Amino acid sequence: MEKQQNIESVLIEKRVFAPPSTFAQQAQLKADALAELQRRAAADHVGFWAGLARQHIAWHKPFTRALDESKAPNYRWFVDGELSVSANCLDRHLVERGNKTAIVFEGEPGDTRSLSYRALHAEVGRLANTLHSLGLQAGDRVVIYLPLVPEAIIAMHACARIGAVHSVVFGGFSALSLKDRIEDTGARLLITADGGWRGGQIVELKSAADKALSLGCPTIEHALVYRRTGQDIAMQAGRDLWWHEAVATQSPDFTAVPVAADHPLFLLYTSGSTGKPKGIQHSSAGYLLNCKLTSEWVFDLRPEDVFWCTADVGWVTGHSYVAYGPLAAGATVMIYEGAPTFPDGGRFWKICERHGVTILYTAPTAIRALMKLGDAIPQSHDLSKIRLLGSVGEPINPEAWIWYHRVIGRERCPIVDTWWQTETGAILISPLPGLTATKPGSCTLPLPGIEVDIVDDAGQSVTQPDAGGYLVVKRPWPSMLQTIWGDNDRYLRTYWQKFQNRYYVAGDSAHRDADGYYWIMGRIDDVLNVAGHRLGTMEIESALVAHPRVAEAAVVGQPHEIKGEAVFAYVVLNGARPVAAASAALSDELRSWVGEQLGAIAKPDTIRFADNLPKTRSGKIMRRLLRAVARNEPITQDLSTLENPAIIEQLRGEAN
Ligand code: WTA
Repeated sequence: MEKQQNIESVLIEKRVFAPPSTFAQQAQLKADALAELQRRAAADHVGFWAGLARQHIAWHKPFTRALDESKAPNYRWFVDGELSVSANCLDRHLVERGNKTAIVFEGEPGDTRSLSYRALHAEVGRLANTLHSLGLQAGDRVVIYLPLVPEAIIAMHACARIGAVHSVVFGGFSALSLKDRIEDTGARLLITADGGWRGGQIVELKSAADKALSLGCPTIEHALVYRRTGQDIAMQAGRDLWWHEAVATQSPDFTAVPVAADHPLFLLYTSGSTGKPKGIQHSSAGYLLNCKLTSEWVFDLRPEDVFWCTADVGWVTGHSYVAYGPLAAGATVMIYEGAPTFPDGGRFWKICERHGVTILYTAPTAIRALMKLGDAIPQSHDLSKIRLLGSVGEPINPEAWIWYHRVIGRERCPIVDTWWQTETGAILISPLPGLTATKPGSCTLPLPGIEVDIVDDAGQSVTQPDAGGYLVVKRPWPSMLQTIWGDNDRYLRTYWQKFQNRYYVAGDSAHRDADGYYWIMGRIDDVLNVAGHRLGTMEIESALVAHPRVAEAAVVGQPHEIKGEAVFAYVVLNGARPVAAASAALSDELRSWVGEQLGAIAKPDTIRFADNLPKTRSGKIMRRLLRAVARNEPITQDLSTLENPAIIEQLRGEAN
């Protein structure tokens, strides 16, 4: 099996790092408390979560049923309870820490702003009143397409406050991607901005939004436009409203609308192996519970922390560990609008120094990019306030882990390598920073109440150390996705069918070492992980084929030093295969085309033209073969079924 070959090829990492004693001594979660959590979870899984839900959530109406399994695997947690997620993140802090800073913002041009919990509450209230005055109600969908400015978080909370369902679309996605997502959600309102700053340039959000709306999106009634860059943009009378004008006359008080525990808080689109992106639907109470708990357990968050999760709110990490978890925990959240290396490679470290960041949570791709710039840049900044480091999005290679530990953590900060997904809502597997000894490259052990396992094709637990298999979750957990918006069959097929609804199938392969530590090996489906972002090969192939000159395309991943994986596309044209300069020009054209269709992150790094694609006699594209060629690996596949064996040379680029 392919995944087992992958696993065997990986060097087993032997280094172990005990939690630094200074950290361990002051950590909030101590060994006896952890043992008690584990004991309770093992004794009564549902009762364990119910107890935590009563303790950690401010309920408008308490629940009496912790878990409804009648429609499993559509599990429903805390069903008859009512709450407001926004009130849980904002109102509940007003008395105790109303003047405490909730958000510190730094824009790419260097402008800064900070909002106390009280100020954030007021801004959210003003916008909630605005949404209300536009006729929006609980259950209506709102698409948010903003740069990473405080207004993105304000917009999410204003939706939560009235019970509207938000769907944030990453500002780097194209007009077409935005249109598809708006249409799938059936949103009534789009919240966007004139633009945002990235790499010294303006990201033209409003013009992309205009294009998206001009192509369809019949359900959109208004676009609310936040002024960020101040450049001239077109405003369509009747449809477009300026944020600052709309909120100016609104009261800052808006009583949060309580919703049912499983009322959808948001939809977030993510790539799958087939078809269009999936609208992952998350609940209110269960989602909030795991976000808050993991913020406290994994990040040891306390009132004096300045927590910087570098993810954009367009990704799930920016939902759970920017907009919700740390605010529910009452922390100070740092956000930064722009590119990590603008205007130079010291920007991240300058931000840490300037704002006194105490916890930094970022992705391996960023760590590798910054590592390449050398030790001198971070060493010239005061990073002494940092006490904990986190990693997420893809496996972190031991070299990057050690650099992060040595140069950024100065060998005194624990590293939490956190495994989770858009679908899981919150971290499921991670070290606990004061308690778990870490091994570079391993996300270590499941959190209390999370029952993960590694199983073989027959669904049997793989007990032999270091043997690979499918990563599964065996019991429901509160922040699990509820469904795929508008397509519950796809939810069942994608996550549950493989093992007859018994386990949640994450789509990752993994192995477990003799200490029970988990090592994630990568995806088992046709999903690439490019710079920590999931991209479906299917989506990129469809985008390529939509170009008039392309007849057929196959996309695979190729290892990349910084991005983890890069997009490698094989393309068959209508008509002759181009050579030399024509080939380079067409490659450029197709790359920009994919950028327009999907967004810059999906652009192929390499395009190779071929007369046809390698197929089996039954017509299936031989993807493993294409992957091996892209990776310059020896071909071990049986080629006897190949229709046209001469094609291999072309695929290798030798015939160009
Ligand atoms: C991968 C991001 C190894 C994995 C939160 C997963 C990881 C996918 C880790 C989800 C990690 C995430 N170690 N791999 N610590 N964290 N992944 O939905 O393949 O954008 O299935 O959620 O990223 O990506 P998503």
